[in-house]
Amino acid sequence: MAVEAGRDIAPAKGKLGVMLVGLGAVSTTFIAGVETVRRGRGVPIGSLSQMGTIRLGKRTEKRSPKIKEFVPLADLKDLVFTAWDPIPDDAYTAAVKAGVLDRHEHLEPIKDFLQGIKPLPAAFDQYYVKRLQGTNVKRGKTKRELAEQLREDIRSFKKTAGVSRVVIVWCASTEVFITPGPVHQSLAAFEKAMEQNDPAIAPSMLYAYAALMENVPFANGAPNLTVDVPALERLAEERKLPIGGKDFKTGQTMMKTVLAPAFKARMLGLAGWYSTNILGNRDGEVLDDPESFKTKEESKLGVLEYILQPDQYPELYGNVFHKVRINYYPPRGDNKEGWDNIDIFGWLGYPMQIKVDFLCRDSILAAPIVLDLALFFDLAQRARLSGIQEWLSFYFKSPQTAPGLYPEHDLFIQQTKLKNTLRWLMGEDQITHLGIEYYEKA
Ligand SMILES: NC(=O)c1ccc[n+]([C@@H]2O[C@H](COP(=O)([O-])OP(=O)(O)OC[C@H]3O[C@@H](n4cnc5c(N)ncnc54)[C@H](O)[C@@H]3O)[C@@H](O)[C@H]2O)c1
Repeated sequence: MAVEAGRDIAPAKGKLGVMLVGLGAVSTTFIAGVETVRRGRGVPIGSLSQMGTIRLGKRTEKRSPKIKEFVPLADLKDLVFTAWDPIPDDAYTAAVKAGVLDRHEHLEPIKDFLQGIKPLPAAFDQYYVKRLQGTNVKRGKTKRELAEQLREDIRSFKKTAGVSRVVIVWCASTEVFITPGPVHQSLAAFEKAMEQNDPAIAPSMLYAYAALMENVPFANGAPNLTVDVPALERLAEERKLPIGGKDFKTGQTMMKTVLAPAFKARMLGLAGWYSTNILGNRDGEVLDDPESFKTKEESKLGVLEYILQPDQYPELYGNVFHKVRINYYPPRGDNKEGWDNIDIFGWLGYPMQIKVDFLCRDSILAAPIVLDLALFFDLAQRARLSGIQEWLSFYFKSPQTAPGLYPEHDLFIQQTKLKNTLRWLMGEDQITHLGIEYYEKA
């Protein structure tokens, strides 16, 4: 089937509601950051949608507009926020507790604004996040009732906040590991399972279902299964809604998806990759539970296998020892330290080592990703792109893909895919990087 060039994209008229599941470190850093930028007191560093440019046409044409001027994205001034959380703290209190942004420099000046964001009661069940206890929770006899209450939240937010469109981003805790089963295969089975309170339906799935039933795009920033099940993927396609996930690609995995493609590009071998992390925020505490860690581990481990293709390069990657650890260590708070020890080998098999010590700030890396996802998912909906948005794999550790496709993890292939999708949406030529025309002018 030929792919038509260009799409009619509905304009970004009116306000865009951003509903966040979870009002913890990532969400509050994102909201406070956007408000600080709107007041002219900060720069949205790390956000491709705000800072990035895109080359159009030939290099000699010298056309490189900013992405936000090239595609019709919602303007930051038009974003309105709300969130759900089982912990009743408003966004100011939650941000102070998260300890990411400097209280005096970044939180006090916008205190009133942040205090105005109070979390809606959450669809929460401690069975799925063992290390959390919440009082601000919805009550209902069945999971279906909870999903209906979430739908009502979306409708009433639309009305009270006066927003014309909504996107939902999951920024809540990592749930326990769940594998797809029969109840996830069709909408009928899924709805029946909600009515029967089936344990295979996690709270995150209720949010995803509610979003899609209310015609709202849904992006998943954690590694939970959530919207990565056939029933919800089909629902999104049928209702022409964009979905995507999983797990924001921020620190260690971002580095991994930069370094591993470099080794492969040069045909250098890999014997082992040992990754360990210490972090002391609430996310670290939740991930200290083995069942939540298992969900994260799967997400972090997958990338090397797909990038290195051991079946195609058995001498180079047939015997890689890959280990990922996350250790809860309170003194560091949100300032994670991620160490990687990488054992590679070169010409005739001679071994070499690389050490990476990334002293990163988790939520500082995640906040711009939440912003870009909210803006690009809204764009996708206005461009009538439906189902899994593979072009936004750039932002995810464990990108969702169509059945039968393996995910693309290489950060630079993901970036090319993202930019080429924007060019395609706007009817511009794809950039292939062939470049022979500059030399063979004939
Ligand atoms: N910061 C990063 O670099 C990064 C990268 C990838 C993924 N993530 C994921 O993003 C998520 C958020 O991270 P964080 O540091 O903000 O964690 P956090 O613990 O500070 O915040 C998560 C919030 O979600 C709430 N929550 C839990 N279950 C909920 C539910 N069912 N409904 C509504 N709210 C619920 C919690 O009460 C908490 O306030 C985590 O799952 C984390 O693994 C973060």
